[in-house]
Amino acid sequence: MSNWHLLNSRVCNVIIVCWILFSYFPGFILSAVVTLGSIEIFRTHDWIKTKPTVYFKCKDGNKTVLPDVEKASVLYNFRGEESWQPLTDLSSEKCKRCGFYEEDTIKSDYVFEEWELCPSDFAAPDGKYIRFKEKEYNATFFCMQCIPDSNSASHRHKGGHATEILLVVLLSALVTSVLILGVVAGYKYWLKKKREQDQARFLKLFEDEDDIEDELGLGNVI
Ligand SMILES: *[C@@H]1O[C@H](CO)[C@@H](O)[C@H](O)[C@H]1NC(C)=O
Ligand SMILES: *[C@@H]1O[C@H](CO)[C@@H](O)[C@H](O)[C@H]1NC(C)=O
Repeated sequence: MSNWHLLNSRVCNVIIVCWILFSYFPGFILSAVVTLGSIEIFRTHDWIKTKPTVYFKCKDGNKTVLPDVEKASVLYNFRGEESWQPLTDLSSEKCKRCGFYEEDTIKSDYVFEEWELCPSDFAAPDGKYIRFKEKEYNATFFCMQCIPDSNSASHRHKGGHATEILLVVLLSALVTSVLILGVVAGYKYWLKKKREQDQARFLKLFEDEDDIEDELGLGNVI
């Protein structure tokens, strides 16, 4: 019955793969990425380096260095597709504590500002959010999937719909694989049974022939 063991392990694999997809995919579909639209810093802080190293970072997130930002009082516009974008994502619907910083060669990094970046900040119809701090910086962010209120309902609904469709597709795939595996296992089992029956019939044929020979032998003796 090693076939059955193999089959069981295959079914287990399918279930595990589906489970992994289910647990990661919904988040992926509803992901609300935040991109940087523009930034202007009003002054730099490192006295040693000529070019500042400005970066964006959220708590427990990665550091995103803004490689283009080299001068103060220059407005840098971005298209959202740069290699270092997006800055972060707000798919959990919770705020994230994020900030703009400048690396410092001697002291600890300079903090332009640290604040709570929330999905509800992106209330404008185009998903734009302007963050301005006097004498420090002026930045615009975009998050299309973050748009709250009436718009959000339809957005979320779309997201939910997509998840539902995905769920159905994955479930059908799972059911189909289990069915196919079942049919294959059933067929193999039937073949094995048939072979055993044929063998039994074949052996029985020999036994019958032996009986006839015995009878003949007996007849010779008589
Ligand atoms: C941080 O970067 C690493 C490697 O580039 C990546 O695997 C990880 O998912 C990132 N973490 C976050 C929170 O973006
Ligand atoms: C900040 O930048 C945006 C976009 O460039 C601009 O519309 C806005 O007027 C600026 N705000 C200030 C206070 O400079």
